[in-house]
Amino acid sequence: MSEGPAPPVLTGEAVDAPLVTDEPGHPGEVAVEREEVLVLDFGGQYSQLIARRLRECGVFAELLPHDADIERIKLRAPRALVLSGGPASVYEPGAPELRTELLELGIPVLGICYGMQAMVRGLGGRVEAAERGEFGRTDLTLLDDGGELMSGLPAEQQAWMSHRDSVFEAPPGFTALASSPGSPVAALEAPDRKLYGIQFHPEVVHTPHGQAILERFLRDIAGCSEQWSAASVIDEQVHRIREQVGDGGVICGLSGGVDSACAAALVHKAVGDQLTCVLVDHGLLRRGEAEQVVETFREGLGIKLIHVDARERFLARLAGQDDPETKRKIIGEEFIRVFEEEATKLDGIDYLVQGTLYSDVIESGGGTGAATIKSHHNVGGLPDDLEFELVEPLRMLFKDEVRRVGTELGLSDRMVWRQPFPGPGLAIRIVGGEVNEERLAILRDADAILQEEVRAAGLYRDLWQSFCVLPVVRSVGVQGDGRTYAYPVVIRAVTSDDAMTADWARLPYDLLERASNRIINEVPGVNRVALDISSKPPATIEWE
Ligand code: XMP
Repeated sequence: MSEGPAPPVLTGEAVDAPLVTDEPGHPGEVAVEREEVLVLDFGGQYSQLIARRLRECGVFAELLPHDADIERIKLRAPRALVLSGGPASVYEPGAPELRTELLELGIPVLGICYGMQAMVRGLGGRVEAAERGEFGRTDLTLLDDGGELMSGLPAEQQAWMSHRDSVFEAPPGFTALASSPGSPVAALEAPDRKLYGIQFHPEVVHTPHGQAILERFLRDIAGCSEQWSAASVIDEQVHRIREQVGDGGVICGLSGGVDSACAAALVHKAVGDQLTCVLVDHGLLRRGEAEQVVETFREGLGIKLIHVDARERFLARLAGQDDPETKRKIIGEEFIRVFEEEATKLDGIDYLVQGTLYSDVIESGGGTGAATIKSHHNVGGLPDDLEFELVEPLRMLFKDEVRRVGTELGLSDRMVWRQPFPGPGLAIRIVGGEVNEERLAILRDADAILQEEVRAAGLYRDLWQSFCVLPVVRSVGVQGDGRTYAYPVVIRAVTSDDAMTADWARLPYDLLERASNRIINEVPGVNRVALDISSKPPATIEWE
C-alpha cells in the first residue's frame, strides 16, 4: 500500500465490563448448509481482506490459491468466485494464470484489479501498461447507469487503486461501467455470462462505496442470503465437534487469551463435561490473570478446570538464563511437561483443543490442509508429542469473528476483548537478563498500572497491544534526597490489524504522564519510564 491511513488520534470509551458470564441456551444442533464464496488468491496484498469483507456481509468466504483444483472447487458448489488482485502484469511470463474454465462454471465471478485484468485478457480484451499507474485515491466516473454492479451509486466517486496496467478495451460482449483518469475501463460486466470486474479495491476503507458493491455482487448477483453469523458458526461447530469427538474425552490448555477461551467455551457447549481445561500458571502471567481465568471458566461457565501452580518450576529453570531463544525454549518445554503430567493423570483423553485461527492457517501456508502453528506461537497450546487428535473449532475464523463468537457464547467483554498476550508471557518482556521474581514483580506492577490507565482513558480496545517492557539495565536517578540506581520501564503500545505490521500508538500526553508518574512512584526499583516509538517493521511488537 503506498499510502496508509493517518495514525488515529486515540479517543474511545472505557471498557471494563464485569467478568461474570452466563451461558446462553443451546442453539439447535443441525448443521447449517452454508452458502460460500471462494476467493482465488493471485498474490494480492488485500486478498485476506476481501474474504473478511465478504464475511462482514454475512456470507462465508474462504481464500484459496489461484491454482486450486477446479474439480474441488466445483464440488464445493460455491455461490460465486472472486478473483483477487496481485502484483504481476498479466502479460508477463510466469504471471499467475487464470484458467478460463473458471469463468464458465455458470456462477458469478468478480475480478478485482489483477483478477479483472486476467479475465479481460483471457476473454480477448486489451490490457496494457498505462502511461501512469494509479495509486491511492482515484476519481471514478460511472458510464451510463453503472450497470448491474454499480447502478444507483454516485456518478462521481472515489476508489482506491493500485495498478500500473489498465484495461483499454473490454472483451467482446462486455459493457464498460466506469472509467478513471488512468483506466479507460475501470469496471465492466457481462451479466448474461455473470462476469464482472473492477479495477479498484472495494475491500479497503478508502473506497467509500466498496462494501456496497460487494453487497450488490453477493446479494443481487450471486443470490446469497445473510447466513454467516456468530450464531451460525456456533451451531455448525457444535455439530462438528460432537461428530468428531463422540463420547471421547477432551483436554484444552487455557492461556488467558481470547482464542483458547473461545475454543474452550465452544467445545464445552458441544460436549459439556467431556471437556477438561488446564491452566498452567507458569508465573509469567499478568497480574490477576490466573484468577480471572479460574473465575470465568470454573465459576462463570461451570467448566472443569485444573489450575496448576507451576510457578516455582518455571522460575527454577529460568534462573541464570538471559538468551531470549533459550528462555522461550525452556518455557515451551516446561509447559509441555506440566501439561503432559496433568493429561496423563486424567483418564480417557483422546482430543486436544487448539485455538488455531484462520490467519495462523493462512500464514503457515496450510490452506485447508494440516495445521502448522508458527513455532513461537505454540506455547500455551500444542504439546506436539502428545498423541491426541486435534479439535480446532476456530480454524476458519478471523480474530474479529472469534470475538463475536465469544460474546455470543457468553464470555465477558473483558475476556473477549483482551489484547493478545504471548504464550511465554512476561518472560519475553524482561530483556537482556535473567527472569526472576524481583523483575517479574516490577514488570507485573508497572504493567498493571499501564493497563489501568489505558482502560481509564477508554483506549484499551483501540490498541492492538499495550504493555511494559523491562530492559535489564540500571541508570542513575534521584529520589527524595538520595541517589537511585534502578531500572527503566518502557511503554510499548501499538495499533495493528493482524500483528503482521504495527504502528506505535499516539497515546495522549496526559495518559503517558499519569502512567509514568504512577509507575515511578508506585513501583519500587524503577526510576525512569521511556516510550517505544518504533513501528513494525522494522521493529517487532515484543522486545523479546
Ligand atoms: P512480534 O513481536 O513478532 O509479535 O511482532 C507479533 C504478535 O505475536 C505475539 N507473540 C507471541 N505470541 N507466543 C505467542 O503466543 C510467542 O512466543 C509470541 N511472541 C510474540 C506478540 O505479542 C504479537 O501479538
